[in-house]
Amino acid sequence: MLLDRVKPLDAILATAERKSLHRSLGAVQLTLLGIGSVIGTGIFVLTASGAQKAGPGLMLAFIIAGAVCVVAALCYAEIASMIPVAGSAYTYSYASVGELLAWTVGWALIMEYAIAAAAVSVGWSGYFTGTILEGFLHIDLPAWLRAGPLALGGAEGGLINLPAMVIALLVTWLLIVGTSESAKVNAVLVAIKIVALTLFIALTFTSSEFSAERFNPFLPAGVFGGFGTGVGAVGAAATIFFAYVGFDSVSTAAEETKNPQRNVPIGLIGSLLICTVFYILVAAGAVGTLGGQPIMGADGTPLAAGSAELARQCAMPEYQEALVCSNEALAHVLRTIGFGSIGNMLGVAAFLALPSVILVLLYGQTRIFFVMSRDGLLPEKLSTVHPKYKTPYIVTAITGVLVAVGAAFFPVGQLADISNAGTLYAFMWVAIALLVLRKKDAHRPRHFRVPGAMIVAPLTIAGCVFLFFNLPTMAMLFLPIWGAIGLVIYFGYSRRTSHLGLGHVEVHETEIDTLEPDLPGSGHHGEG
Ligand code: ALA
Repeated sequence: MLLDRVKPLDAILATAERKSLHRSLGAVQLTLLGIGSVIGTGIFVLTASGAQKAGPGLMLAFIIAGAVCVVAALCYAEIASMIPVAGSAYTYSYASVGELLAWTVGWALIMEYAIAAAAVSVGWSGYFTGTILEGFLHIDLPAWLRAGPLALGGAEGGLINLPAMVIALLVTWLLIVGTSESAKVNAVLVAIKIVALTLFIALTFTSSEFSAERFNPFLPAGVFGGFGTGVGAVGAAATIFFAYVGFDSVSTAAEETKNPQRNVPIGLIGSLLICTVFYILVAAGAVGTLGGQPIMGADGTPLAAGSAELARQCAMPEYQEALVCSNEALAHVLRTIGFGSIGNMLGVAAFLALPSVILVLLYGQTRIFFVMSRDGLLPEKLSTVHPKYKTPYIVTAITGVLVAVGAAFFPVGQLADISNAGTLYAFMWVAIALLVLRKKDAHRPRHFRVPGAMIVAPLTIAGCVFLFFNLPTMAMLFLPIWGAIGLVIYFGYSRRTSHLGLGHVEVHETEIDTLEPDLPGSGHHGEG
């Protein structure tokens, strides 16, 4: 039987009991934790590709993607309150639908986190090059050093995105030497991001450039742009979904939360709702002042974000100021409407805050790797803990190099789309795990129960499938290809070495104890 290896929940929970973390986090800290991991490249950079896909309908895209995340967050909240251990969606699947499917979820999560970290690195690079190098230091980085060969959007002649590569390696090094983001640093960075976005909204909405006319036509590419095209409001929603990724880090803090029944759902839903409101207002401010109409191709549909043709159009004088052509969308809007210095300050805010998003994502990736190797599904050697720094340095270094390569050569939009494919797959399995556990383990105490789970979980599954099938074809295809590679490894290696398969259901705690469950709100950072 392929689906018979289900990890007993009691064995998983033994882990949590032995760790018995101090419950110190409250609702506010959890919400800050969520906002800290969520606001990043999605809003600061992808607003441009979102507008290229949907025009002013970008606002609708934020609502659609936010709605899918809210129902998914409810599912996370229930399972996290029931299984508050490391490993997130991978662990939940192991306990409900078994090892094979859990492997595919863990494998997809690796894709989610690593590729998302690469995407945020590229987003950071846009602000670093534009605001810091050009704006403040007057250094003009040659085109071949500021974008990969595939990143044609606005940077023809790119060869390698050097700043993106360097920041990915730098953050990797910080993780190896054991840097963890403290709750204080997180709170400061959240404040910087919130102030930057609030200023953006206030200045754009009160600007004399703001005009309702600019929202017309609201849906230049329609609601559905067509299968595989990734355009239209839902195509943009599938991309901009990236702006919400990371809220799941709140669920992993369940074990450290005071009164988790109340606080975990507040933290999850609270951070998501706050971000959604900010995102919609920011999109409205950007479109209302600068306009956000896509650049259309000869066939009357928007040119693909990141395509050579769009790059050519963006180089034309008439599109110099277009929102859809900018690598630093929000700073660009403020500069263009006459707030040069505040635009630069917003650029500095992104420059300061985005690396912490990379850190949380990279950390999450190594953590999933770690849990999978603890279960015997990946070579334990990979998770060897550094004698001095006490971090899993081998897996961190391998991940960091791969992330740096992705960041060096690929455009931000494509990386985000691919990452989204993996995330949507994992979210879907969290909803399925919820339904399976409600049936299989109906009486186990849950600190939080999703109201109307029989509606919320199927809605989550439907929402994830729906967004997945509105991604561009390339991103959709990446998941099955990546999955096939994963299955070859599973059947060629992991199935034989699995601790559960070998009959060891006992949870090994020595290594995880050495690593300590790092959670942002508690002075560390956490995985999603
Ligand atoms: N949600 C995170 C971002 O937008 C990943 O950068």
